Amino acid sequence: MSFGFPTETINEGKIKVVVPKLAAYKKKPSDYAPSKAPVFYNPTMELNRDLAVLALQAHQKFLGKEVWVAEPLTGCGIRGARFAVEVEGVQRVFLNDIRPDSAKISSVNAELNGVADIVEVTNEDANLFLSIHSAPRKRFDYVDVDPFGPPVPYMDSAIRSLRNGGLLALTATDMAPLCGVHRRACLRKYGGVPLRTEYCHELAVRLLTGCLTMMAAKHEIGIDVMFSHSIDHYIRVYAVVSYGAKVADESVQQMGYILHCFSCFHRETSSGIVAPLKHVCPVCGAKLSVAGPLWPGRIADKEFSSMMEKELEKRSFRQEKKLKKILALVKNEAEAPSTYYAVDKICDKLNLPVPPQKKVLDKLKEQGFQAVLTHFNSRGFRTDAPADIVKKIVTQLTA
Ligand SMILES: C[S@@+](CC[C@H](N)C(=O)[O-])C[C@H]1O[C@@H](n2cnc3c(N)ncnc32)[C@H](O)[C@@H]1O
Ligand SMILES: [Zn+2]
Repeated sequence: MSFGFPTETINEGKIKVVVPKLAAYKKKPSDYAPSKAPVFYNPTMELNRDLAVLALQAHQKFLGKEVWVAEPLTGCGIRGARFAVEVEGVQRVFLNDIRPDSAKISSVNAELNGVADIVEVTNEDANLFLSIHSAPRKRFDYVDVDPFGPPVPYMDSAIRSLRNGGLLALTATDMAPLCGVHRRACLRKYGGVPLRTEYCHELAVRLLTGCLTMMAAKHEIGIDVMFSHSIDHYIRVYAVVSYGAKVADESVQQMGYILHCFSCFHRETSSGIVAPLKHVCPVCGAKLSVAGPLWPGRIADKEFSSMMEKELEKRSFRQEKKLKKILALVKNEAEAPSTYYAVDKICDKLNLPVPPQKKVLDKLKEQGFQAVLTHFNSRGFRTDAPADIVKKIVTQLTA
């Protein structure tokens, strides 16, 4: 079949798909071929799609019934075709994209993989598509919002298109606002103030989750984060929605702020969206900086992460090693304190050589503190030890 632009067939997961031939759209090194091609395809997001397959399967098993799945911004339909082929218990997959060529190529890809009978492709604006599905009996059990930049423009209609207990997956690639480079844009889009700390990617997940919480609450819907991750240039949040004013209130009550001292690394969480905030660091007296309002609570569920690990064992993915590592780290840090320290950042500030991270963690544990690695940063670790103890240990190890 001809699409009027160069294409090729590639393999990912268990499927083969027709995608635009990216080499034809990269004329100079600075060209970002996925955005230049008439239909969007980004091979580097394979890991993101692998994790989505695992999360959807875990969710389907948890629900224990056949599920309806939607991808309102599907590009070439690769993600949706993978859901249809690789996830058990998927009854229907609804794919949509505003570009006519995307819809066309997505239909071809569904046929190519023998799933055209369960895949329905539309060519609408994503919000229109989601709104059409926001009536009872038309809703989905899983919605995957994977846009360019922020997912915010699609979140309200995505929430409304989910059944009670449905799972919402959100990608955000606008890391400059979320990580505090463009503070005003973050406040505007996500309704929270970011902070350029060493753990800004975690704050990004918390700001996006906070935004989701407040948006869902308007519809008397509460949220529960099952899994989240930050890789390369994007973050991802998977949250289950639950209908009811009470659960919505409980979610809103979990909102809060993270206060950070740039002078001594002290950080603390302040619960409640209307809580009076401290302005002075209780340790060193410097001015405290504020991130939020955001979601300071749990950003992954241990059991859900375990279910994803089990699903990975049953599959053979190209990036299996990397996936195993991410899943193990996310599971391990799921119940650890919020915010992490970065050894190199502390050493930079104290003008010290960087000690081996393992030694820092061992010392913390020796002294009775919790100390776990984080998937957010290979040099990061979470601990319940106060910042001055962490600094003391780092200093002693470099003496
Ligand atoms: C990042 S790509 C999606 C990639 C895809 N989810 C994947 O895993 O390969 C974003 C897609 O959103 C589509 N898009 C942009 N604005 C849209 C809108 N308002 N409604 C529907 N689709 C839209 C673009 O055409 C593009 O295909
Ligand atoms: Zn301080």
